[in-house]
Amino acid sequence: MSLVVLITIAFSCYNLIVAAPPAFKQSEASALRNSRWWPPSVTGNTTLLYCAWPGVSCDDHGSVDWIYLTNMYRIGGNLSDMNFSLLPSLTYLQLMNTELTGVIPLQICTLSRLTHLDLSNNSLVGKLPPCVQNLINLEVLYIDHNQISGSIPPELGNLERLTDLNLGFNALNGVVPLTIGRLHNLKSLIFSSNDLGGSIPLELGNLTEMHIVDLSCNNFTGPIPSFIGNLTSLTLLYLQENKFGGFIPPEIGNLMNLTHLNLQRNKLNGSIPLEIGDLRNLRLLNLNSNNLVGKIPLELGRLIEMSFVDLSSNVFTGPLPSFIWNLTFLTYLSLQVNKFSGSIPSAIGNLEYLIKLNLSENRFHGAIPSEIGNLRRLEFLDLSSNNFVGKIPVELVILRWLSQLDLHNNSLFGLIPALKSNSFLYRLNLSYNHLKGPIPKNLVAAFPHTAFIGNDDLYYFDETQTYRRRSSVILHTPVFILLAVVFISCIVIGSCFLIQLATKSMPIKTVQPETLEKNGNFLSIWNYDGKIAYEDIINATEDFDLKYCIGTGGYGSVYRARLPNGKAVALKKLHRLEAEDPSFDKSFRNEVKHLTEIRHRSIIKLHGFCLHRRCMFLIYEFMENGSLFCVLRDDVEAVELDWSKRVDLVQDTAHALSYMHHDCARPMVHRDISSNNILLNSRMQAFVSDFGTTRLLDHDSSSNFTANIAGTYGYIAPELAYTLIVNEKCDVYSFGVVAMETMIGEHPGDIVSTLLTSSGEDIMLHRILDPRLPFPRENSVARSIVLIVSLALACLSANPKSRPTMKQVSEAFLARKLPLAKSFHEISLAQLQNNNRSWLEGGPTEASSGLSDE
Ligand SMILES: *[C@@H]1O[C@H](CO)[C@@H](O)[C@H](O)[C@H]1NC(C)=O
Ligand SMILES: *[C@@H]1O[C@H](CO)[C@@H](O)[C@H](O)[C@H]1NC(C)=O
Ligand SMILES: *[C@@H]1O[C@H](CO)[C@@H](O)[C@H](O)[C@H]1NC(C)=O
Ligand SMILES: *[C@@H]1O[C@H](CO)[C@@H](O)[C@H](O)[C@H]1NC(C)=O
Ligand SMILES: *[C@@H]1O[C@H](CO)[C@@H](O)[C@H](O)[C@H]1NC(C)=O
Repeated sequence: MSLVVLITIAFSCYNLIVAAPPAFKQSEASALRNSRWWPPSVTGNTTLLYCAWPGVSCDDHGSVDWIYLTNMYRIGGNLSDMNFSLLPSLTYLQLMNTELTGVIPLQICTLSRLTHLDLSNNSLVGKLPPCVQNLINLEVLYIDHNQISGSIPPELGNLERLTDLNLGFNALNGVVPLTIGRLHNLKSLIFSSNDLGGSIPLELGNLTEMHIVDLSCNNFTGPIPSFIGNLTSLTLLYLQENKFGGFIPPEIGNLMNLTHLNLQRNKLNGSIPLEIGDLRNLRLLNLNSNNLVGKIPLELGRLIEMSFVDLSSNVFTGPLPSFIWNLTFLTYLSLQVNKFSGSIPSAIGNLEYLIKLNLSENRFHGAIPSEIGNLRRLEFLDLSSNNFVGKIPVELVILRWLSQLDLHNNSLFGLIPALKSNSFLYRLNLSYNHLKGPIPKNLVAAFPHTAFIGNDDLYYFDETQTYRRRSSVILHTPVFILLAVVFISCIVIGSCFLIQLATKSMPIKTVQPETLEKNGNFLSIWNYDGKIAYEDIINATEDFDLKYCIGTGGYGSVYRARLPNGKAVALKKLHRLEAEDPSFDKSFRNEVKHLTEIRHRSIIKLHGFCLHRRCMFLIYEFMENGSLFCVLRDDVEAVELDWSKRVDLVQDTAHALSYMHHDCARPMVHRDISSNNILLNSRMQAFVSDFGTTRLLDHDSSSNFTANIAGTYGYIAPELAYTLIVNEKCDVYSFGVVAMETMIGEHPGDIVSTLLTSSGEDIMLHRILDPRLPFPRENSVARSIVLIVSLALACLSANPKSRPTMKQVSEAFLARKLPLAKSFHEISLAQLQNNNRSWLEGGPTEASSGLSDE
């Protein structure tokens, strides 16, 4: 359906309600009313024509042509409660996520005009009735995530217009009917997570338009057919968790557009075909848990786009080919449980995007190269159960995101490096090596002793024990007794002296906040439920001990403190810039007071602050999941932040910025929007932090000129390179970067700039989406992603004047989203970019979520 038609529908419906009342179709009205899918507040309102009920629209003749109910609107009834035979004009039926029960009624087969039928994610039972063959206009059929049983009716093959078929996550059994080969227009075929068996029918090889084939998690057997090589448009092939056996067919190399290939957990044998090197666009290759043998073919080195490689739990042998260290976009490399041998070269330092490296249970030998310190994003490093020798490289200490380190069962020797700066490290195993010397104290405190066992010369450094052992030796002679007495006295006196010194150097601990307040040295505002004493903060953080530090940034460090009342707060300790200037303190105080009064559900609450000659800190609500920046870099958390949460995140951020720019009492520009300043609570909801902090720290906070550029590199609007005027359009640009980053999973980097120069190649939208998440399966989410990316591109315009305002962005998110006129995987960034102009020029907001065909 083209955009024009969509708008016409919207407008004609509008006209019908407002201008000329349409013919009232008694039968349709009663079909809708009797379904009880709408609450009495809607059906009982006599002034409200059924065409204006939420989720309903009518054609020119007052006949219902759309029913569009989704998770915004739970029904919870029975699908058979609707008498579909009374709605002959229905073309679009969307009932995803509506808690419907019952079977698929035969009446639904009378809807011969239906083009879109989405019953996904309900509790439907029974079989898929063969009469669906009457729905000859059907293009989209989604029945996934129900409990549909029985076999797939061969009659499905009559739906020749079908482009998208999703029957995944049901209880279907039997085989795939051969008639499937008649669905020539099919682009997406998803049968995952059922009980289907047999082999892939030959007829599937006819469906050359296909982009997505997902047969994962079934009981399919037989070989992966070589005709799969005919499906040259495939971008995604998921056959994992079946019982496919035999070789991987070399014809797979024809799938030049393939980006995702997942064959894990099958019974494939033989070696990796060399033709795999032709899959130039491949980003994900998962062959985990098969019986594959042989060496990794050199041809794999041509796959420079590759980001996720899992070859674990096979019988691969030989050293790793050197090209692997040139796949610079690798983020996950899992080679564990194979028979790989050889050593790891220093070229490993090239893989600067690597997040996870698992080489465990192989036969690697040699030293761990110190270049491992170049892998700044590394979070999971597992080299256990190999034959690595030499020292643990001290460079590991600089890997600040490292959270799991497993080196157990090797032959490493030497001292354990001071891993204390790896503040995210929560799993450590160094057991069964030849390490020696003391275990660093902070490691003893943080990890169980099993992390260190099996190392003969490793010991716990305990001062009292060392002392006792020594004294037992020297007690034999009286002279030594005397010496011992002198020695002990020295220690006692010395430590008293030291304690005194320490106390003196920490006056903050002993001085009451009230006193300080009186002296005018200490200012505070607590807009907290109950007064927090300054001392509580100092106690809770042990005077800002490093172990409570959860992050550092340009302005200072952030600490986490748990107050005596049990609540956690985040403390932002700022570098003291204006130590001796009382007027600064006054303006600071006014500014903060104002900031504590901001109330918006997606802006972090500032509880108060403390300003003292020695320290200055702001007290915020604590966000359990930290910053968006960190979440996107954590494999597990990034997946937890699924598409619908990401969509919400971007929208909430837009609403918060719109509020601060346009709707609050004293509008304010943030000036440093970045993924570091979007924080997430335990439910992964987003909050904008640091509103006003930039301003607080700027000398002349009243003007829009800034002496020093405040923003974060990579998020700063390009015009700031030549002008010092900061206005809300700078925030709009930074918002665009964050929105793109949330969709891509990492900073968009060059994508935007190459796209914005006209010479850049056209990139398909689905190619840039975060590869760690499955493709968005809900229509509404896909639509939101399209809208987000098109708005983000508008926000990233180099010319500030062509950027939308945050209010426009926020309103676009609130407007009703019409279905996409193209299937998701056909949308390119250039199309979105051209398309977004329409609403900037005052066109209807709906335009930005649909795409015109012309
Ligand atoms: C009926 O719907 C109209 C239009 O939406 C609304 O203005 C009116 O308040 C509703 N009446 C009742 C009783 O809910
Ligand atoms: C299915 O619906 C339930 C509630 O109705 C919701 O919690 C869940 O996220 C939905 N799942 C999918 C895959 O849409
Ligand atoms: C590979 O798998 C096929 C089918 O499962 C089997 O017939 C064949 O014997 C296997 N080949 C080897 C070398 O294991
Ligand atoms: C690496 O692989 C081994 C073997 O499968 C597994 O036990 C271990 O948990 C993996 N390490 C990491 C850090 O995921
Ligand atoms: C150590 O590695 C060997 C093989 O390299 C393996 O057989 C053994 O089970 C491993 N031991 C531990 C404790 O992991």
